[in-house]
Amino acid sequence: MTTPPTDREQTAVIILAAGSGTRMKSATPKMLHRVCGRTMLGHALHAAAGIRPDSVVVVVGHQREQVSEAVAGLAVDLGVPVTTAVQERQNGTGDAVAAGMAAIPADFSGTVLVTTSDIPLLDADTLREVVSRHGMRPRAAVTVLTSTAPDPTGYGRIVRNDDGEVLRIVEHKDASEDERAIDEVNSGIYAFDARVLRDKLGELGTDNSQGELYLTDVIQLARRANGVVRGHRIEDADLVAGVNDRVQLAALAREMNRRLCESAMRAGATIVDPGSTWVDVDVRIGRDVTILPGTHLTGATVIGDDATVGPDSTLQDTTVGPGATVVRTHAVGATIGAGAEVGPFAYLRPEADLGERSKIGTFVEIKKSRIGAHTKVPHLTYVGDATIGEHTNIGASSVFVNYDGVNKNRTVIGSHCRTGSDTMFIAPVTVGDGAYSGAGTVIKDDVPPGALAVSGGRQRNIDDWVIENRPDSGSAEAALRSRNDSQKDGLTP
Ligand code: UD1
Ligand code: MG
Repeated sequence: MTTPPTDREQTAVIILAAGSGTRMKSATPKMLHRVCGRTMLGHALHAAAGIRPDSVVVVVGHQREQVSEAVAGLAVDLGVPVTTAVQERQNGTGDAVAAGMAAIPADFSGTVLVTTSDIPLLDADTLREVVSRHGMRPRAAVTVLTSTAPDPTGYGRIVRNDDGEVLRIVEHKDASEDERAIDEVNSGIYAFDARVLRDKLGELGTDNSQGELYLTDVIQLARRANGVVRGHRIEDADLVAGVNDRVQLAALAREMNRRLCESAMRAGATIVDPGSTWVDVDVRIGRDVTILPGTHLTGATVIGDDATVGPDSTLQDTTVGPGATVVRTHAVGATIGAGAEVGPFAYLRPEADLGERSKIGTFVEIKKSRIGAHTKVPHLTYVGDATIGEHTNIGASSVFVNYDGVNKNRTVIGSHCRTGSDTMFIAPVTVGDGAYSGAGTVIKDDVPPGALAVSGGRQRNIDDWVIENRPDSGSAEAALRSRNDSQKDGLTP
């Protein structure tokens, strides 16, 4: 019989991240590979921070500079103090935990939670469950989190007696044929009584097939010393599934994505095809949002209520206002106002800031520009480093010429302007409220409010230039035919 947990013990978390991750075949350390926009190390630290532990230690070894730098960045983001401990040689999980324990005060007597940095779906709830099981009376010396693996190859197997008590963990490589038939496996996540752990780590040996110090051996040592050893089997095996190679990385990313889509749908969003929709962990999706197939929402993207996104759109760190529509668009670091319409085929770059009910149409690129409410940039246009007021219309095929080869310059356009097709705004330049420009205008000087800007001289036609200079061309022949036809019809050429 188990009873409710005893008073809250102090908790320390040790995250193992010293291994080399050889099977990833990567220059990047395994734990820095991403799953749904967050590194696996990030997932591990988020889960650990979620249980509000008294201390967190990450054990680094292989590529330690890169890993330590990532740890430091994550600690700042999460606002929790994290220590790194170095394991000089990768001499097994027992040795790695010993390195971690060296960073925890010698008189610490609470619970030590051990996890690894390659279990992307592990969450704070699962860790809390382990701590809570561990604390049930009689208080355990060790609690190991286990699962049922469809294919247990490679995992340590949980050996229990007829009463269901955990006797020991045997590694795949050391297991007999009978033991290999066991499908309950060690997740690599444990809660330890700190004193037992410290004591038993000192007794580990290397008499095994890999010649390493196995953390798993602490279990039989604790049991021999009459400690309570608890095995807590988790139903949802994906929560504790590890990544050793890129095939597993992809499989678990898909599973996490499935869960993220599911929670968005449960919160009131329509995702037409979750299988082709990718959502990062930090993305927020409102109610009555519709996500059409082929959409990737990454980073800190936020989709407001009633917005429609997709199909075939990628939004990174982009905020979409309520009721906006974003079709076949690539956006990075953009802000899209309420009710705005974007696309199809729009490219929004960092600091594109689109006002309420504005419209950014087809083959339009916007960079570092504020587009006022109700303003339209409907076709084939580049807007860079500009501020455009409200209710303005920018004609098709316009270019905000912001770069003089050395500096980026700003263009300011007022409200209620109508600029003609093919207007070039040679920045720095200002166009006043209510001003117009004719088609094909090159605006080099400021335009006062209410003025019509036109540039270039009167059009000049050089008669027969093509007929004389390109005599045998299709153009000349067409021109001559047209001239003859009109003469026959009694028209002047
Ligand atoms: C380990 C367990 C196994 C369990 C499996 C779950 C042992 C002996 N075996 O096996 O029972 O089923 O995890 O995934 O513990 N690490 C270090 N330093 C080292 C060795 C490993 O930091 O010297 C870290 C690795 O970076 C990794 C974790 O410990 O994050 C597990 O190491 P790994 O080599 O993957 O152990 P497994 O053989 O998978
Ligand atoms: Mg492993």
